[in-house]
Amino acid sequence: MDNTTPSLFKPHILSGLPYKGGSTREQSGKVRKIHKLSSNECPIGPSPKIIKAITASLEMLHEYQHEDDSRLRTALAGHYDWKLLPDQFLTANSALELIEMIVRAFVEPGQECIISSPTFLAYKNFVELQGGKVIDIPLDRENFSLDPDELLRAITNKTRLIFITSPNNPTGAIIPRKILDRLMESLPSHVVLVYDEVYRHFVRDRNYAVGLDYVKNSKQIIGLNSFSKAFGLAGLRVGYAYSTPEITGYVSRLRRPFMISVPAMEGAMAALRDKQYLYNVQRVVREEKNWIQDCFDDLGLFYWPSQGNFLLFVPPYEGEEFTADLLSRGIMVRETSVFGLPGCIRLSMGMREANSAFITATQKLMEWKQKVK
Ligand SMILES: Cc1ncc(COP(=O)(O)O)c(C=O)c1O
Repeated sequence: MDNTTPSLFKPHILSGLPYKGGSTREQSGKVRKIHKLSSNECPIGPSPKIIKAITASLEMLHEYQHEDDSRLRTALAGHYDWKLLPDQFLTANSALELIEMIVRAFVEPGQECIISSPTFLAYKNFVELQGGKVIDIPLDRENFSLDPDELLRAITNKTRLIFITSPNNPTGAIIPRKILDRLMESLPSHVVLVYDEVYRHFVRDRNYAVGLDYVKNSKQIIGLNSFSKAFGLAGLRVGYAYSTPEITGYVSRLRRPFMISVPAMEGAMAALRDKQYLYNVQRVVREEKNWIQDCFDDLGLFYWPSQGNFLLFVPPYEGEEFTADLLSRGIMVRETSVFGLPGCIRLSMGMREANSAFITATQKLMEWKQKVK
């Protein structure tokens, strides 16, 4: 044995920062009287049918039930009209957990993953905690478009994953099909594209591409999805991904038995059945987004077109101050400096009551700022 004392702790776990989500009501210090428009949640409360399914599942809580997730994967295959086999799905306790599993499955310390900022922060956190290196090929700062050739040029022998988010968080922009086509046609065999489509249910742009189209052509892409957004189940923590049988078979080796709780599994399956709830959510988000955009136009506030359930806009004055002023009036929004995008605010679509409260407060703050100038 040599004389140097071996280190117990892995350096990349010590140096990497764990992912931290947006603030909760509790952290805001105003648990009840607050309009939470800061975490891109579903504006409508959970579907009664889902609550019923979850409640029914509680009877058997004392038992280990479904050792694997095959019932949920079969339900997902049905949801995708049997274009994929149940074995082409992976399920986990949220999309976040899937990102963590995918990174563990493909990335060794020293290997590289490509992201395009500003984007969802968790990719970077999980890659760094695994000892991987993040290479950032930023999006165009004017319209948040992505240059596929620049991204392809960044690929090296050490690259393992590329993260693309469409619609992107926090910008709301999609990656059009022709850009994704260009990327996928030149993707080398040692790289997998993680295509985060957790906001896909809100998209209305015809140029949108779903990961499914590429998986069917045996491309190395993983479609990442969540029950937290359009299905209204952020608190339940269920997500799924799909890919080629080779990729899902490989990543699923990391799954633990009984990984998803029985209520979560039953809730997710009930959500897939409750089509009316999903249509309702889509309609509310579409209508509210139109309404807020009209209000922004009236107030003269600049915003970017968004295909998500949120809007990115330029606040009437300094972003942190504006966010704090709104919070003191009971409205939570997300300032986007942490995304590497200072000077902007991300506003999640709420119900009309919350959205009107936000618009009224913004209007009043603008008037007040004008007076104190
Ligand atoms: C782009 C993106 N991917 C993944 C997630 C995480 O979803 P989940 O709640 O399933 O962990 C979020 C959450 O806001 C997100 O914005």
